[in-house]
Amino acid sequence: MTFFIETFGCQMNVYDSELVMNILLQNGYEKASAIGKADILFLNTCAIREKAVERVIHKMEQYAHYRKKGKLKIAGILGCIPQYSSERLKKELPFIDILSGPDNYDKLPQMIKESIKNKRIHEDIRLYKEQNYDNMLPYRENKFSAFVTVMRGCDNFCSYCVVPYVRGRERSRSLNEILKDINDAVSKGITEITLLGQNVNSYNWNGMTFAALLEKVSETENLKRLRFATSHPKDISYELIEVMSNNPKICKHLHLPFQAGSSEVLKRMNRGYTKEDYLGKIEKIRDSVPGIALTTDIIVGFPGETDDDFKETLEVMEISGFDNSFMFIYSERELTYAKKHYKDDVNRKIKAERQKQVIELQKRIGLEQMNGDIGTIKEVLVESVSKKRKTEMIGSTDQNRSVVFENSGKIKPGDYVKVKITDAGSVTLLGELIK
Ligand code: 5AD
Ligand code: SF4
Repeated sequence: MTFFIETFGCQMNVYDSELVMNILLQNGYEKASAIGKADILFLNTCAIREKAVERVIHKMEQYAHYRKKGKLKIAGILGCIPQYSSERLKKELPFIDILSGPDNYDKLPQMIKESIKNKRIHEDIRLYKEQNYDNMLPYRENKFSAFVTVMRGCDNFCSYCVVPYVRGRERSRSLNEILKDINDAVSKGITEITLLGQNVNSYNWNGMTFAALLEKVSETENLKRLRFATSHPKDISYELIEVMSNNPKICKHLHLPFQAGSSEVLKRMNRGYTKEDYLGKIEKIRDSVPGIALTTDIIVGFPGETDDDFKETLEVMEISGFDNSFMFIYSERELTYAKKHYKDDVNRKIKAERQKQVIELQKRIGLEQMNGDIGTIKEVLVESVSKKRKTEMIGSTDQNRSVVFENSGKIKPGDYVKVKITDAGSVTLLGELIK
């Protein structure tokens, strides 16, 4: 039997889908080249905002005909949406066969067998404090860059966020399991690794800190670039900043979500830092790691956010100089502290207007950051052929900036090349290949 997996949401889900692929491959299932050719379809999903949930339900409705009339025998939903609201899925998608939360992927082969025997819905949304998928490796889709999860779950309980409820308690993977995963990837020719966790700065395995883990991983032979996400401003340590500034394999890019500029709003978000704390860390990071690129996440329209609060978000953006921001409108989530205790009182128009403003400001700030690279020569990891023009390639710099350049040689994805930056847009650089 063949399977097809479509992934939604964060990088952790990309990793999990690769894990599921390998679990299925090892159990004798094969990959299908398209949904129409699959016996089993899984959507691996995200529940972080209401829009993400609606999108997946809509997608699965569009695929319903494969399940009702086509070859497809099993349609399943994996990840955070089943964990968030399996009842809703059962009601809105009555043809669904399997629902599995993020801690039950090792049981999927068994669930598939049972589902074929017995056509009722098979559901497993139990969370396990210890589930780290030990002794299981992912199937590597990408041939030169890989994600490696170093911790699962989250204990921060930011008041707006559903992650601690749908992915469970925070747990760190052992050094040995992480190294096995990385060595496996590198042995397949992968040269860029991104270590993943909801809050990598609270990594703790038998006292080993995240900074120490990075140092250890960076010793891997044939590994060229080491990245990580996501960092939390309250936990990022000077030890980590030191390691970033001294270790040439660790890429000079930091994703550091600040969410909101006003310390009052940050308090209600339960973020554990003030605006001044955040800006202080940014200053220290910029001082210690010259040329570092920063990116962030921003939420607009959190309950009680006034015009003055919002102005402080714009101010933090101006001072920090982000390359890029992920800018979201607050979406009320079940189970969260904010849903229980705060009224979602910023009106929709104002939320949309604020989002428009942050997007516009980000464009300008992004362009300023990118412009700084014009005239410099960068090492670029080639990632793909440009969709717009077949003669152009797209790659990324150490700072995770995208570069587009004419393929004047026999360059292919996975190569490292030198590119002279000639021009910049707000999210991409243009360059010329140096022979
Ligand atoms: N509404 C809007 N954005 C959210 N995020 C998390 N929860 C919510 C929510 N309820 C955003 C945060 C986080 C990113 C992954 O998603 O900015 O950093
Ligand atoms: Fe959600 Fe906060 Fe945990 Fe990030 S740190 S996953 S925003 S609870």
